[in-house]
Amino acid sequence: MAAVAKPGRMKDPQDSLVVLSGCGTSGRLAFFMASGFNRELQRLNYAPICSYVIAGGDRALFSSQEAPEDDPTLGALRLKKVSEGKKRVLFIGVSCGLSAPFVAGQLDFCLRHPDVYTPVLVGFNPAHQARNEPLPGCTLTFRSVVTRMEELAKTQKAFLINPALGPEAISGSSRMKGGSATKILLEVVFSASFSRTPVTFKYAQWGYGRAVQKILFVCFSLQCGRQVCYLGWGSLGLLGLIDASECKPTFGSKHSELLFPQGPEFSISHDDFLDRVLPRLTDDDAVLLLYSDSDDVDEVAKLAHRVREKTSNIHGAYHQTDGVVSSSRQRELSTKLLLNAVSTGAHILKGKVFKNYMIDLQVTNSKLYRRAARLLQELSSHSESQCEEALLKAIYQVDKLSEDIMTCSLKTHTHTAGKAKKVVPLALVCLLTGCSIKEAETRLEQQPIVREAVEACLKSS
Ligand code: F6P
Repeated sequence: MAAVAKPGRMKDPQDSLVVLSGCGTSGRLAFFMASGFNRELQRLNYAPICSYVIAGGDRALFSSQEAPEDDPTLGALRLKKVSEGKKRVLFIGVSCGLSAPFVAGQLDFCLRHPDVYTPVLVGFNPAHQARNEPLPGCTLTFRSVVTRMEELAKTQKAFLINPALGPEAISGSSRMKGGSATKILLEVVFSASFSRTPVTFKYAQWGYGRAVQKILFVCFSLQCGRQVCYLGWGSLGLLGLIDASECKPTFGSKHSELLFPQGPEFSISHDDFLDRVLPRLTDDDAVLLLYSDSDDVDEVAKLAHRVREKTSNIHGAYHQTDGVVSSSRQRELSTKLLLNAVSTGAHILKGKVFKNYMIDLQVTNSKLYRRAARLLQELSSHSESQCEEALLKAIYQVDKLSEDIMTCSLKTHTHTAGKAKKVVPLALVCLLTGCSIKEAETRLEQQPIVREAVEACLKSS
Protein backbone atom coordinates (compact mmCIF):
# COMPACT_ATOMS: atom_id res chain seq x y z
CA MET A 1 0.00 0.00 0.00
CA ALA A 2 2.77 2.39 0.86
CA ALA A 3 3.82 2.06 -2.80
CA VAL A 4 1.04 4.43 -3.87
CA ALA A 5 -0.06 6.09 -0.70
CA LYS A 6 3.21 7.31 0.79
CA PRO A 7 3.47 11.09 0.90
CA GLY A 8 6.21 11.31 -1.79
CA ARG A 9 3.82 9.96 -4.41
CA MET A 10 0.90 11.93 -3.05
CA LYS A 11 2.58 15.06 -4.31
CA ASP A 12 1.42 13.90 -7.68
CA PRO A 13 -2.33 13.69 -7.15
CA GLN A 14 -3.01 14.51 -10.78
CA ASP A 15 -1.92 11.05 -11.82
CA SER A 16 -2.60 8.93 -8.72
CA LEU A 17 -5.70 7.91 -6.87
CA VAL A 18 -6.71 5.63 -4.02
CA VAL A 19 -10.26 4.28 -4.42
CA LEU A 20 -12.12 2.60 -1.57
CA SER A 21 -15.23 0.68 -2.49
CA GLY A 22 -17.86 -1.64 -1.06
CA CYS A 23 -21.56 -2.43 -0.66
CA GLY A 24 -23.86 -1.61 2.25
CA THR A 25 -21.94 -0.84 5.41
CA SER A 26 -18.66 -1.63 3.64
CA GLY A 27 -19.42 1.09 1.06
CA ARG A 28 -20.51 3.54 3.74
CA LEU A 29 -17.25 2.95 5.58
CA ALA A 30 -15.37 3.40 2.29
CA PHE A 31 -16.96 6.85 2.02
CA PHE A 32 -16.39 7.61 5.71
CA MET A 33 -12.72 6.73 5.55
CA ALA A 34 -11.94 8.23 2.14
CA SER A 35 -13.32 11.56 3.44
CA GLY A 36 -11.40 11.22 6.73
CA PHE A 37 -8.12 10.35 4.99
CA ASN A 38 -8.50 13.29 2.60
CA ARG A 39 -9.04 15.64 5.53
CA GLU A 40 -5.94 14.25 7.21
CA LEU A 41 -3.91 14.69 4.00
CA GLN A 42 -5.03 18.29 3.67
CA ARG A 43 -4.07 18.90 7.29
CA LEU A 44 -0.58 17.64 6.41
CA ASN A 45 -0.50 19.92 3.34
CA TYR A 46 -0.99 17.20 0.76
CA ALA A 47 -3.65 17.20 -1.89
CA PRO A 48 -6.60 14.84 -1.27
CA ILE A 49 -6.01 11.61 -3.12
CA CYS A 50 -8.78 9.29 -1.94
CA SER A 51 -12.10 8.61 -3.56
CA TYR A 52 -14.90 6.13 -2.91
CA VAL A 53 -17.48 4.04 -4.72
CA ILE A 54 -20.57 2.60 -3.07
CA ALA A 55 -22.93 0.15 -4.78
CA GLY A 56 -26.17 2.00 -5.43
CA GLY A 57 -24.46 5.41 -5.54
CA ASP A 58 -24.71 8.14 -2.92
CA ARG A 59 -28.32 7.24 -2.15
CA ALA A 60 -26.93 4.09 -0.58
CA LEU A 61 -24.90 6.12 1.91
CA PHE A 62 -27.99 6.67 4.03
CA SER A 63 -30.49 4.11 2.79
CA SER A 64 -30.32 0.41 2.02
CA GLN A 65 -29.91 -0.37 -1.69
CA GLU A 66 -29.02 -4.06 -1.91
CA ALA A 67 -29.82 -4.85 -5.54
CA PRO A 68 -26.82 -3.06 -7.14
CA GLU A 69 -24.57 -5.26 -4.98
CA ASP A 70 -25.33 -8.09 -7.45
CA ASP A 71 -23.95 -6.26 -10.49
CA PRO A 72 -20.24 -6.86 -11.27
CA THR A 73 -20.38 -4.85 -14.51
CA LEU A 74 -21.79 -1.83 -12.72
CA GLY A 75 -19.00 -2.12 -10.13
CA ALA A 76 -16.34 -2.08 -12.85
CA LEU A 77 -18.02 0.84 -14.65
CA ARG A 78 -18.19 2.93 -11.48
CA LEU A 79 -14.54 2.28 -10.77
CA LYS A 80 -13.58 3.17 -14.33
CA LYS A 81 -15.52 6.42 -14.09
CA VAL A 82 -14.11 7.55 -10.78
CA SER A 83 -10.53 6.84 -11.90
CA GLU A 84 -10.80 8.28 -15.43
CA GLY A 85 -7.48 9.76 -16.61
CA LYS A 86 -5.40 8.48 -13.66
CA LYS A 87 -2.15 6.68 -14.33
CA ARG A 88 -1.85 4.81 -11.05
CA VAL A 89 -4.79 3.65 -9.01
CA LEU A 90 -4.71 1.74 -5.76
CA PHE A 91 -8.10 0.05 -5.54
CA ILE A 92 -9.26 -1.18 -2.13
CA GLY A 93 -12.36 -3.33 -2.40
CA VAL A 94 -14.07 -4.25 0.86
CA SER A 95 -16.34 -7.26 1.12
CA CYS A 96 -16.40 -8.64 4.65
CA GLY A 97 -17.77 -12.00 3.55
CA LEU A 98 -15.68 -12.09 0.31
CA SER A 99 -18.96 -12.26 -1.48
CA ALA A 100 -20.20 -9.06 -3.18
CA PRO A 101 -20.35 -9.41 -7.01
CA PHE A 102 -20.09 -5.60 -7.32
CA VAL A 103 -16.65 -5.70 -5.68
CA ALA A 104 -15.61 -8.88 -7.54
CA GLY A 105 -16.35 -7.07 -10.83
CA GLN A 106 -14.11 -4.21 -9.77
CA LEU A 107 -11.26 -6.51 -8.73
CA ASP A 108 -11.56 -8.37 -12.03
CA PHE A 109 -11.39 -5.03 -13.87
CA CYS A 110 -8.19 -4.14 -11.96
CA LEU A 111 -6.67 -7.53 -12.75
CA ARG A 112 -7.36 -6.95 -16.44
CA HIS A 113 -5.69 -3.49 -16.35
CA PRO A 114 -2.56 -4.04 -14.26
CA ASP A 115 -0.72 -1.15 -15.90
CA VAL A 116 -2.95 1.29 -14.00
CA TYR A 117 -4.65 -0.59 -11.18
CA THR A 118 -3.26 -2.35 -8.11
CA PRO A 119 -6.10 -4.24 -6.40
CA VAL A 120 -6.37 -4.79 -2.65
CA LEU A 121 -9.14 -6.94 -1.21
CA VAL A 122 -10.20 -6.49 2.40
CA GLY A 123 -12.48 -9.11 3.94
CA PHE A 124 -12.74 -11.42 6.91
CA ASN A 125 -13.10 -14.93 5.56
CA PRO A 126 -10.37 -17.34 4.55
CA ALA A 127 -9.85 -17.25 0.77
CA HIS A 128 -11.21 -20.78 0.29
CA GLN A 129 -14.51 -19.64 1.82
CA ALA A 130 -15.01 -16.86 -0.72
CA ARG A 131 -18.40 -17.14 -2.43
CA ASN A 132 -18.32 -19.70 -5.18
CA GLU A 133 -21.53 -18.91 -7.06
CA PRO A 134 -21.15 -17.54 -10.61
CA LEU A 135 -21.37 -13.75 -10.68
CA PRO A 136 -24.57 -12.61 -12.40
CA GLY A 137 -24.00 -12.42 -16.14
CA CYS A 138 -20.60 -14.16 -16.26
CA THR A 139 -18.78 -17.34 -15.39
CA LEU A 140 -16.42 -15.83 -12.81
CA THR A 141 -17.01 -16.37 -9.12
CA PHE A 142 -15.74 -14.27 -6.23
CA ARG A 143 -13.54 -17.22 -5.33
CA SER A 144 -11.99 -17.44 -8.79
CA VAL A 145 -11.13 -13.72 -8.58
CA VAL A 146 -9.58 -14.27 -5.14
CA THR A 147 -7.51 -17.17 -6.52
CA ARG A 148 -6.12 -14.93 -9.28
CA MET A 149 -5.33 -12.28 -6.69
CA GLU A 150 -3.56 -14.78 -4.47
CA GLU A 151 -1.32 -15.69 -7.38
CA LEU A 152 -0.44 -12.03 -8.07
CA ALA A 153 0.01 -11.34 -4.36
CA LYS A 154 3.17 -13.46 -4.53
CA THR A 155 4.79 -10.69 -6.59
CA GLN A 156 2.98 -7.87 -4.76
CA LYS A 157 0.91 -6.98 -7.79
CA ALA A 158 -2.24 -7.55 -5.76
CA PHE A 159 -2.91 -7.67 -2.02
CA LEU A 160 -5.29 -9.72 0.06
CA ILE A 161 -5.96 -8.56 3.62
CA ASN A 162 -8.33 -11.12 5.08
CA PRO A 163 -7.72 -11.94 8.72
CA ALA A 164 -10.33 -14.51 9.83
CA LEU A 165 -12.32 -12.90 12.61
CA GLY A 166 -14.68 -15.71 13.39
CA PRO A 167 -18.45 -15.43 13.25
CA GLU A 168 -20.43 -12.24 13.77
CA ALA A 169 -22.35 -11.79 17.01
CA ILE A 170 -25.56 -12.20 15.00
CA SER A 171 -25.10 -14.61 12.12
CA GLY A 172 -24.38 -12.74 8.89
CA SER A 173 -24.55 -9.24 10.36
CA SER A 174 -21.22 -8.02 9.01
CA ARG A 175 -22.10 -4.40 9.77
CA MET A 176 -20.91 -5.10 13.32
CA LYS A 177 -17.62 -6.91 13.83
CA GLY A 178 -16.72 -6.91 10.12
CA GLY A 179 -17.42 -3.19 9.79
CA SER A 180 -15.42 -2.32 12.91
CA ALA A 181 -12.50 -4.46 11.74
CA THR A 182 -12.60 -2.74 8.32
CA LYS A 183 -12.33 0.61 10.03
CA ILE A 184 -9.49 -0.40 12.34
CA LEU A 185 -7.57 -2.15 9.60
CA LEU A 186 -7.71 0.61 7.00
CA GLU A 187 -6.96 3.30 9.54
CA VAL A 188 -3.85 1.44 10.66
CA VAL A 189 -2.72 0.96 7.06
CA PHE A 190 -3.33 4.56 6.03
CA SER A 191 -1.81 6.02 9.17
CA ALA A 192 1.26 3.88 8.63
CA SER A 193 1.63 5.36 5.16
CA PHE A 194 1.31 8.92 6.50
CA SER A 195 3.82 8.64 9.29
CA ARG A 196 7.32 7.28 9.58
CA THR A 197 6.89 6.10 13.14
CA PRO A 198 5.30 2.74 13.92
CA VAL A 199 1.57 3.04 14.36
CA THR A 200 -0.14 1.62 17.39
CA PHE A 201 -3.78 2.02 18.21
CA LYS A 202 -5.51 1.81 21.50
CA TYR A 203 -9.23 1.86 21.16
CA ALA A 204 -11.38 3.09 23.98
CA GLN A 205 -13.87 0.79 25.62
CA TRP A 206 -17.35 2.02 26.30
CA GLY A 207 -19.09 1.56 29.62
CA TYR A 208 -21.22 -1.40 28.58
CA GLY A 209 -23.34 -1.19 31.70
CA ARG A 210 -24.51 2.22 30.56
CA ALA A 211 -24.90 0.94 27.02
CA VAL A 212 -27.24 -1.82 28.20
CA GLN A 213 -29.36 0.76 29.96
CA LYS A 214 -29.63 2.72 26.73
CA ILE A 215 -30.54 -0.41 24.81
CA LEU A 216 -33.46 -1.01 27.16
CA PHE A 217 -34.76 2.53 26.72
CA VAL A 218 -34.36 2.36 22.98
CA CYS A 219 -36.12 -1.00 22.88
CA PHE A 220 -38.99 0.37 24.85
CA SER A 221 -39.61 2.80 22.01
CA LEU A 222 -39.31 0.18 19.29
CA GLN A 223 -41.66 -2.16 21.13
CA CYS A 224 -44.23 0.59 21.43
CA GLY A 225 -43.97 0.91 17.67
CA ARG A 226 -42.46 4.35 18.13
CA GLN A 227 -39.30 5.93 16.87
CA VAL A 228 -35.69 6.04 17.83
CA CYS A 229 -33.74 9.02 16.67
CA TYR A 230 -29.99 9.38 16.58
CA LEU A 231 -29.10 13.03 16.79
CA GLY A 232 -25.41 13.46 16.13
CA TRP A 233 -22.62 15.93 15.52
CA GLY A 234 -19.68 15.59 13.13
CA SER A 235 -18.33 12.16 12.31
CA LEU A 236 -20.22 10.63 15.26
CA GLY A 237 -23.48 11.76 13.64
CA LEU A 238 -22.39 10.14 10.41
CA LEU A 239 -21.84 6.87 12.28
CA GLY A 240 -25.41 7.16 13.52
CA LEU A 241 -26.59 7.37 9.92
CA ILE A 242 -24.47 4.37 8.97
CA ASP A 243 -25.85 2.27 11.82
CA ALA A 244 -29.45 3.22 11.10
CA SER A 245 -29.20 2.57 7.35
CA GLU A 246 -28.43 -1.09 7.80
CA CYS A 247 -31.37 -1.90 10.10
CA LYS A 248 -33.79 -2.27 7.21
CA PRO A 249 -32.09 -5.17 5.39
CA THR A 250 -30.86 -6.75 8.62
CA PHE A 251 -34.01 -6.68 10.70
CA GLY A 252 -36.73 -5.76 8.24
CA SER A 253 -37.05 -2.60 10.28
CA LYS A 254 -39.27 0.15 8.92
CA HIS A 255 -37.31 3.30 8.10
CA SER A 256 -39.21 5.22 10.67
CA GLU A 257 -38.27 2.79 13.42
CA LEU A 258 -34.64 3.67 13.64
CA LEU A 259 -35.32 7.20 12.70
CA PHE A 260 -32.78 9.67 11.61
CA PRO A 261 -33.94 12.98 10.23
CA GLN A 262 -34.69 11.76 6.75
CA GLY A 263 -37.21 13.05 4.32
CA PRO A 264 -37.61 12.18 0.68
CA GLU A 265 -34.44 14.16 -0.07
CA PHE A 266 -32.36 12.86 2.78
CA SER A 267 -33.00 15.75 5.05
CA ILE A 268 -30.36 15.03 7.62
CA SER A 269 -29.46 18.40 9.07
CA HIS A 270 -30.35 19.56 12.56
CA ASP A 271 -32.71 22.10 11.00
CA ASP A 272 -34.52 19.25 9.26
CA PHE A 273 -34.77 17.52 12.61
CA LEU A 274 -36.32 20.62 14.15
CA ASP A 275 -38.76 21.12 11.25
CA ARG A 276 -39.82 17.57 10.50
CA VAL A 277 -39.10 15.32 13.46
CA LEU A 278 -39.28 17.29 16.67
CA PRO A 279 -42.93 18.37 16.25
CA ARG A 280 -43.97 14.69 16.00
CA LEU A 281 -41.93 13.36 18.93
CA THR A 282 -43.84 11.96 21.90
CA ASP A 283 -42.80 10.58 25.24
CA ASP A 284 -42.68 7.08 23.74
CA ASP A 285 -39.94 8.07 21.30
CA ALA A 286 -36.29 7.75 22.24
CA VAL A 287 -33.53 10.16 21.24
CA LEU A 288 -29.84 9.34 21.48
CA LEU A 289 -27.40 12.26 21.29
CA LEU A 290 -23.97 11.52 19.83
CA TYR A 291 -21.34 14.16 20.50
CA SER A 292 -17.99 14.93 22.04
CA ASP A 293 -16.34 17.83 23.82
CA SER A 294 -14.91 19.02 20.52
CA ASP A 295 -18.44 19.78 19.33
CA ASP A 296 -20.40 22.89 20.22
CA VAL A 297 -21.64 21.65 23.58
CA ASP A 298 -23.87 24.70 24.08
CA GLU A 299 -25.66 23.91 20.86
CA VAL A 300 -26.05 20.29 21.99
CA ALA A 301 -27.52 21.50 25.28
CA LYS A 302 -29.99 23.77 23.47
CA LEU A 303 -31.19 21.00 21.22
CA ALA A 304 -31.36 18.54 24.13
CA HIS A 305 -33.51 21.03 25.99
CA ARG A 306 -35.98 21.23 23.12
CA VAL A 307 -36.07 17.44 22.83
CA ARG A 308 -36.69 17.07 26.55
CA GLU A 309 -39.84 19.17 26.22
CA LYS A 310 -41.19 16.36 24.03
CA THR A 311 -39.74 13.19 25.56
CA SER A 312 -37.94 12.21 28.72
CA ASN A 313 -36.49 9.23 26.84
CA ILE A 314 -33.33 11.11 25.85
CA HIS A 315 -29.78 9.75 26.26
CA GLY A 316 -26.29 10.90 25.41
CA ALA A 317 -23.20 9.12 24.17
CA TYR A 318 -20.70 11.79 25.07
CA HIS A 319 -16.95 11.57 24.60
CA GLN A 320 -14.77 13.64 26.82
CA THR A 321 -11.00 14.01 26.59
CA ASP A 322 -10.69 13.81 30.36
CA GLY A 323 -6.88 13.69 30.70
CA VAL A 324 -6.60 10.49 28.71
CA VAL A 325 -5.94 11.23 25.07
CA SER A 326 -8.96 10.01 23.20
CA SER A 327 -8.35 10.39 19.48
CA SER A 328 -11.17 10.94 17.03
CA ARG A 329 -10.63 7.33 15.88
CA GLN A 330 -11.19 6.02 19.38
CA ARG A 331 -14.33 8.08 19.69
CA GLU A 332 -15.59 6.90 16.37
CA LEU A 333 -14.93 3.25 17.04
CA SER A 334 -16.45 3.24 20.49
CA THR A 335 -19.47 5.13 19.12
CA LYS A 336 -19.83 2.55 16.34
CA LEU A 337 -19.66 -0.29 18.87
CA LEU A 338 -22.19 1.41 21.09
CA LEU A 339 -24.60 2.07 18.22
CA ASN A 340 -24.25 -1.51 16.94
CA ALA A 341 -25.04 -2.74 20.46
CA VAL A 342 -28.00 -0.38 20.83
CA SER A 343 -29.61 -1.16 17.47
CA THR A 344 -28.89 -4.89 17.59
CA GLY A 345 -29.85 -5.26 21.24
CA ALA A 346 -33.06 -3.34 20.68
CA HIS A 347 -34.01 -5.50 17.71
CA ILE A 348 -33.17 -8.67 19.64
CA LEU A 349 -35.45 -7.54 22.44
CA LYS A 350 -38.02 -6.67 19.84
CA GLY A 351 -37.99 -10.29 18.70
CA LYS A 352 -36.22 -9.88 15.35
CA VAL A 353 -33.60 -12.51 16.19
CA PHE A 354 -34.18 -16.21 16.79
CA LYS A 355 -31.35 -18.53 17.86
CA ASN A 356 -28.76 -16.00 16.73
CA TYR A 357 -30.31 -15.64 13.28
CA MET A 358 -31.93 -12.54 11.82
CA ILE A 359 -35.35 -13.95 11.07
CA ASP A 360 -36.88 -10.90 9.47
CA LEU A 361 -34.10 -10.03 7.05
CA GLN A 362 -34.92 -8.55 3.66
CA VAL A 363 -34.43 -10.76 0.63
CA THR A 364 -33.37 -8.05 -1.76
CA ASN A 365 -30.28 -9.49 -3.43
CA SER A 366 -28.85 -12.88 -4.33
CA LYS A 367 -26.76 -13.21 -1.17
CA LEU A 368 -29.72 -12.40 1.06
CA TYR A 369 -31.97 -14.73 -0.96
CA ARG A 370 -29.57 -17.65 -0.52
CA ARG A 371 -29.06 -16.74 3.13
CA ALA A 372 -32.82 -16.74 3.69
CA ALA A 373 -33.20 -20.15 1.98
CA ARG A 374 -30.41 -21.62 4.16
CA LEU A 375 -31.97 -20.12 7.25
CA LEU A 376 -35.33 -21.71 6.46
CA GLN A 377 -33.63 -25.08 6.05
CA GLU A 378 -31.79 -24.71 9.33
CA LEU A 379 -34.90 -23.71 11.30
CA SER A 380 -37.50 -25.95 9.66
CA SER A 381 -35.37 -29.01 8.74
CA HIS A 382 -37.19 -29.16 5.40
CA SER A 383 -35.33 -29.88 2.17
CA GLU A 384 -33.59 -27.19 0.13
CA SER A 385 -36.22 -27.30 -2.61
CA GLN A 386 -39.14 -27.14 -0.13
CA CYS A 387 -37.56 -24.12 1.53
CA GLU A 388 -36.95 -22.28 -1.72
CA GLU A 389 -40.53 -23.01 -2.74
CA ALA A 390 -41.83 -21.62 0.56
CA LEU A 391 -39.65 -18.55 0.12
CA LEU A 392 -41.04 -17.91 -3.37
CA LYS A 393 -44.62 -18.41 -2.17
CA ALA A 394 -44.02 -15.81 0.55
CA ILE A 395 -42.40 -13.40 -1.92
CA TYR A 396 -45.28 -13.66 -4.43
CA GLN A 397 -47.99 -14.15 -1.74
CA VAL A 398 -49.39 -17.28 -3.36
CA ASP A 399 -50.07 -20.84 -2.20
CA LYS A 400 -49.23 -22.38 -5.54
CA LEU A 401 -46.27 -21.40 -7.69
CA SER A 402 -47.22 -20.76 -11.30
CA GLU A 403 -45.03 -21.67 -14.26
CA ASP A 404 -44.40 -17.96 -14.75
CA ILE A 405 -43.01 -17.51 -11.26
CA MET A 406 -40.87 -20.62 -11.51
CA THR A 407 -39.21 -19.34 -14.67
CA CYS A 408 -38.56 -15.82 -13.40
CA SER A 409 -34.94 -14.83 -12.79
CA LEU A 410 -33.45 -14.48 -9.33
CA LYS A 411 -33.29 -10.75 -10.02
CA THR A 412 -37.07 -10.65 -10.46
CA HIS A 413 -37.56 -12.64 -7.25
CA THR A 414 -35.39 -10.29 -5.20
CA HIS A 415 -36.97 -7.23 -6.81
CA THR A 416 -40.45 -8.51 -5.93
CA ALA A 417 -39.29 -9.41 -2.42
CA GLY A 418 -38.33 -5.77 -1.92
CA LYS A 419 -42.01 -4.83 -2.10
CA ALA A 420 -43.24 -7.58 0.24
CA LYS A 421 -43.21 -7.64 4.03
CA LYS A 422 -42.08 -10.30 6.50
CA VAL A 423 -41.10 -12.67 3.69
CA VAL A 424 -38.89 -14.96 5.76
CA PRO A 425 -41.21 -15.18 8.81
CA LEU A 426 -44.14 -15.98 6.48
CA ALA A 427 -42.21 -18.74 4.73
CA LEU A 428 -41.07 -20.15 8.04
CA VAL A 429 -44.55 -20.23 9.58
CA CYS A 430 -45.85 -22.00 6.43
CA LEU A 431 -43.06 -24.56 6.59
CA LEU A 432 -43.50 -25.22 10.31
CA THR A 433 -47.29 -25.50 10.31
CA GLY A 434 -48.19 -26.43 6.73
CA CYS A 435 -50.64 -23.52 6.70
CA SER A 436 -51.48 -21.21 3.79
CA ILE A 437 -49.85 -17.81 3.24
CA LYS A 438 -53.06 -16.09 4.36
CA GLU A 439 -53.14 -18.10 7.60
CA ALA A 440 -49.46 -17.38 8.19
CA GLU A 441 -50.18 -13.69 7.73
CA THR A 442 -52.97 -13.85 10.29
CA ARG A 443 -50.71 -15.64 12.78
CA LEU A 444 -48.05 -12.96 12.36
CA GLU A 445 -50.63 -10.21 12.75
CA GLN A 446 -51.85 -11.81 15.96
CA GLN A 447 -48.30 -12.22 17.25
CA PRO A 448 -46.25 -9.37 15.74
CA ILE A 449 -43.18 -10.36 17.78
CA VAL A 450 -41.73 -12.64 15.13
CA ARG A 451 -39.56 -14.71 17.46
CA GLU A 452 -42.58 -15.54 19.63
CA ALA A 453 -44.68 -16.43 16.60
CA VAL A 454 -41.94 -18.80 15.42
CA GLU A 455 -41.52 -20.31 18.88
CA ALA A 456 -45.26 -20.94 19.09
CA CYS A 457 -45.21 -22.71 15.71
CA LEU A 458 -42.25 -24.82 16.75
CA LYS A 459 -43.99 -25.90 19.96
CA SER A 460 -47.11 -26.98 18.12
CA SER A 461 -45.31 -28.62 15.18
O1 F6P B 1 -26.53 -7.35 1.12
C1 F6P B 1 -26.53 -6.50 2.18
C2 F6P B 1 -25.29 -6.68 3.00
O2 F6P B 1 -25.29 -7.93 3.61
C3 F6P B 1 -25.15 -5.61 4.04
O3 F6P B 1 -25.81 -6.00 5.17
C4 F6P B 1 -23.66 -5.49 4.18
O4 F6P B 1 -23.31 -4.29 4.78
C5 F6P B 1 -23.28 -5.58 2.73
O5 F6P B 1 -24.11 -6.59 2.22
C6 F6P B 1 -21.83 -5.83 2.44
O6 F6P B 1 -21.41 -7.09 2.80
P1 F6P B 1 -19.93 -7.50 2.47
O7 F6P B 1 -19.02 -6.50 3.15
O8 F6P B 1 -19.75 -8.87 3.03
O9 F6P B 1 -19.77 -7.45 0.98
